[in-house]
Amino acid sequence: MAQIRCLVTGGAGFIGSHIIENLLKLGHEVVCIDNFDVYYDPQLKRKNIDSFMGNELFELVEGDFRNRGLLKKALNGVEYVFHEAAQAGVRISVEAPMKPHEINATGTLNLLEAVLDSDVKKVINASSSSVYGKVEYLPFDENHPNQPVSPYGVSKLLAEHYCRVFEELYGLKTVSLRYFTVYGPRMRPDLAISIFTKAALKNKPITIFGNGEKTRDFTHVDDIVRANLICMEKGSGVYNIGAGNSISINELARKIIEINKSKSTIFYADPVKGDAEHTLASSEKAWKELGWKPEVTVKEGLERYAKWMSNSRKANQMLFMPIQ
Ligand SMILES: NC(=O)c1ccc[n+]([C@@H]2O[C@H](COP(=O)([O-])OP(=O)(O)OC[C@H]3O[C@@H](n4cnc5c(N)ncnc54)[C@H](O)[C@@H]3O)[C@@H](O)[C@H]2O)c1
Repeated sequence: MAQIRCLVTGGAGFIGSHIIENLLKLGHEVVCIDNFDVYYDPQLKRKNIDSFMGNELFELVEGDFRNRGLLKKALNGVEYVFHEAAQAGVRISVEAPMKPHEINATGTLNLLEAVLDSDVKKVINASSSSVYGKVEYLPFDENHPNQPVSPYGVSKLLAEHYCRVFEELYGLKTVSLRYFTVYGPRMRPDLAISIFTKAALKNKPITIFGNGEKTRDFTHVDDIVRANLICMEKGSGVYNIGAGNSISINELARKIIEINKSKSTIFYADPVKGDAEHTLASSEKAWKELGWKPEVTVKEGLERYAKWMSNSRKANQMLFMPIQ
């Protein structure tokens, strides 16, 4: 593929930084727009993109992607937009529903409007399994009814609808990928795998909210990135991007304890509002239309993550060791 200029919104975040890493490896030019939102430590986000700084194919536009002037600058010469910027996180959306609406729904509308006035060929939008919510049957296929159970889920569904409507009304090519609980190196610190692994490595107690019988389809970030890259050439509408193999939170905690040879014990706390009961993806549509299927099993992914986490902890300890 010839060199292509791409924009990754939210590129300093977990998934965005992996997309950038892979685009750069393929020799593409990448513009990253990110405002280093304080939802979690902005220093972690700076670290995510640290290795790209100084690469002549990489440009950082620091600021809010809803700022039209900044966005116009970032879109200059861009052919593909990977839209990852969002207020992620179900629980925070229950406490403060306006922010996810403003960033995820209104922000996406603003992005799509700006894109109409550019040379962009396609917008690849990060959506979420949260758009399903209440379970009528499992696994979820893309025709399963959408009854989100959190303001976050509503905001991601609205963003998908804006993408579809912009394609129908204005001919802008879009695709929305419904990611199922993503994990891997550099993952968000508010997600269960990250919290449990950190606790396990320190032999500290692991707290589960509720009885631990909720199930999730944990999907490795490498599989998510591959789906995004395929969508530069193929795909329209919505696709589930999930590992297709769900496990309970109890099983997850036990696996993490075992993999890390940890002495952690499990504690239970009151359930939190807004969490879906179960998620499980049918990725048949993605296989038929994109030729994508998941490759990383949860066992392999968790082992890889534990190794990464343990190495990065050692590296951090070295960094803070006094110079002799
Ligand atoms: N991680 C998951 O399990 C998961 C699952 C489903 C969907 N998603 C979606 O994938 C995308 C990426 O998620 P992530 O886990 O990498 O989250 P993340 O929080 O690590 O990344 C989002 C990035 O967007 C940036 N951002 C937020 N608001 C912004 C604004 N107004 N202007 C510019 N930048 C802004 C943040 O600073 C952050 O770097 C999101 O759209 C999220 O909704 C994630």
